[in-house]
Amino acid sequence: MIEATDVLDVDDLTAGDLETVLDRAAAIKAGEDENELTRRTLAMVFEKPSTRTRTSFETAMTRLGGHAIFLGPDDIHLGSGEPVKDTARALAGYADAIMARLFDHADAEELAAYADVPVINGLTDDAHPCQTLADLLTVRERFDGFDDVTVAWVGDGNNVAQSFVLGAALADLDLTVTTPPEYGVDDDVLDRAAELGRTPRVVDDPGAAVADADVVYTDVWVSMGEEDVREEKLRAFEGYQLNADLLAGNDALVMHCLPAHRGEEVTDEVVESDRSIVWQQAENRLHAQAGLLVELLA
Ligand code: CP
Ligand code: NVA
Repeated sequence: MIEATDVLDVDDLTAGDLETVLDRAAAIKAGEDENELTRRTLAMVFEKPSTRTRTSFETAMTRLGGHAIFLGPDDIHLGSGEPVKDTARALAGYADAIMARLFDHADAEELAAYADVPVINGLTDDAHPCQTLADLLTVRERFDGFDDVTVAWVGDGNNVAQSFVLGAALADLDLTVTTPPEYGVDDDVLDRAAELGRTPRVVDDPGAAVADADVVYTDVWVSMGEEDVREEKLRAFEGYQLNADLLAGNDALVMHCLPAHRGEEVTDEVVESDRSIVWQQAENRLHAQAGLLVELLA
């Protein structure tokens, strides 16, 4: 059992919790874990679209013998004005846990404050902790641990980046971050990483950031909900694309949480190359979340 009751961001887990979840995920993936969540229900609230998060959580619940209910923006009253705190208490009366993908991170906090069942953040504008669990599982599989592994984050200091910064701190993983100055990781996240004992190296030059990296990680430049600032963001991120030129000097593996916008933050050639581990990362969403669900509910 882990100490965390809600997982709104990675630093809701202790370093011990993280290791426990990753170990449980690895055992489930290897077919070596007997835990089941029979007759347990996960309510899944989505304000934004999803391919991986929805399907991996739903599949995890099915494989564990439980059930997941998809509640999209047109399915429940949250989208037409029922307060988050009312949705929280109603859903908690039926479901054993709630997973939510919301715009405003404060809404995820309110959901957790009012629901007396575990609440898991399936992505907010500020954080994507379940993605980080899968990312760390993937790095651990590839390198047999985190020692002497260097990861470079290249691109936007967005929700995926911010949770990964916290995950790297918790896993004691060496991380370099390069973003356009105005799109960096929030100071609050860097402070929280420092409290966990490890802050990333922040550098200006993408070439310098990737030079010694074992893994280079990127995500879209225009996240869901940012469509109105698309043109100015595309201009700001010139030079941050993961392409053959940027990666020419090393043999680093490439990660992307997906969906990838080929031709923007990454080229099709890089996504489809032998160095790309994006499909392993995507599959690991299933195993990492199964591990988390077992630790929270079994
Ligand atoms: N990486 C990720 O969360 O993908 P989806 O938006 O498809 O869920
Ligand atoms: N940063 C992206 C991640 C998608 C999984 C977004 O928020 O749209």
